[in-house]
Amino acid sequence: MTESLYIIMVGLPARGKSTLAGKLSESLKRDGISTRIFNNGDLRRRLSKENTSYPEFYDPKNDVGVALREKYAVMNLNHAITFIRRSRSRRRVAIIDATNVSVQRRRLLLSHLPEESVLFIECINNDEEILEANIRYKVDTPEFSYLSKKAAIASFKKRISYYEGIYRPLKNEKNYLKVDTFNYRVLKEKVNGSIPFVDRIRDFLVTPFIKNLYVIRHTETYFNRNDRIGGNSRLTPHGRTQADKLARHFSTKRIPLIVTSDLTRTKQTSEAIKRAQHDCKVIALPEFNEINSGICEGMSYREIREKMPDVAAARKRNKYYYRYPEGEGYVSMEERIERGIKKVLYMSKYSDNIMIVGHRAVNRMILSYFVYKRKEDVPYIYIPQDKYYHIKIGQNRKVFDIKKFA
Ligand code: F6P
Repeated sequence: MTESLYIIMVGLPARGKSTLAGKLSESLKRDGISTRIFNNGDLRRRLSKENTSYPEFYDPKNDVGVALREKYAVMNLNHAITFIRRSRSRRRVAIIDATNVSVQRRRLLLSHLPEESVLFIECINNDEEILEANIRYKVDTPEFSYLSKKAAIASFKKRISYYEGIYRPLKNEKNYLKVDTFNYRVLKEKVNGSIPFVDRIRDFLVTPFIKNLYVIRHTETYFNRNDRIGGNSRLTPHGRTQADKLARHFSTKRIPLIVTSDLTRTKQTSEAIKRAQHDCKVIALPEFNEINSGICEGMSYREIREKMPDVAAARKRNKYYYRYPEGEGYVSMEERIERGIKKVLYMSKYSDNIMIVGHRAVNRMILSYFVYKRKEDVPYIYIPQDKYYHIKIGQNRKVFDIKKFA
């Protein structure tokens, strides 16, 4: 018996459709299901001679744009149909990756698939900040290379607004799942027919999926040398040499995305790594800024002990829950670190390695997110500057390793 399924992605641009499609495809393939993604945008960029990246191309009132996009949508679907028909595997899935936000477009696709099993997956994410981060990431592509970053972001947002005008969430379609792509949650499910692999698909959708996560601490700064905390210090010459060593160490691995904090020391460390990579993006997230030590910012541990013995003693007694006056504690970082990690997972591509260049306290929190630690032990996790953590994440297991690079 053969089982075939067409998955049709639905959602506004930058809502995580392609990332989800990629993750799904990888997971299905691992289960021995022959799967291929058919992306309208890729086809359009490959075949069309016209410039299709300016926003008005997406204006529903632009007849030329509408006709051209419809042509590519049907062509893309036909490629998917050919794949399913010709596949020698008995279990196969074609994923149509495009916005498909209008009822009319979805009807058009369904009219070509009268007898087939079709499952729509709608990607939803209304978190402004994550959307913004994703847009910044998306415009960093050749399609927008002729525009400044600011103009590219404005152009992409305009494009989104055209899609918003015709967007109708899934409602009357027979089989669908609505997914919150930021929180890995299935928001709504309607499955009427017998849809092959649907249980597996639902499981995959709610499981974060990365293969390799490298958690690195920035290399030595002037503040580190004097044992001072906080601040926004630069790397020392030794720190720069360490960063170069890191870069050499990772030069044989592909690192398409490095996420840093918003502080100079993590950005400087990541710049060196990026230089040794072929195609690598760096994104700074304030969620990964080092613990704010409030009234102790810029002081050395010794100064704190001498000038503010109460602070030093109280922190020593209960390091995880202690909050620096006018600053943070580990406990108050929980929320922002979790949010940062979710952003990273959201932006990452399914088959790639991800790197976070963070700070001592931040990296402790990141590690404890992936590997269970008692809270009172978290502030003591070893975070050196000549080693990094490698977390290998499979569907059912995690391997945790510390590696020396210098
Ligand atoms: O010393 C570097 C540093 O990143 C400081 O900026 C930060 O306050 C500290 O480490 C966090 O480590 P701990 O919680 O052990 O003081």
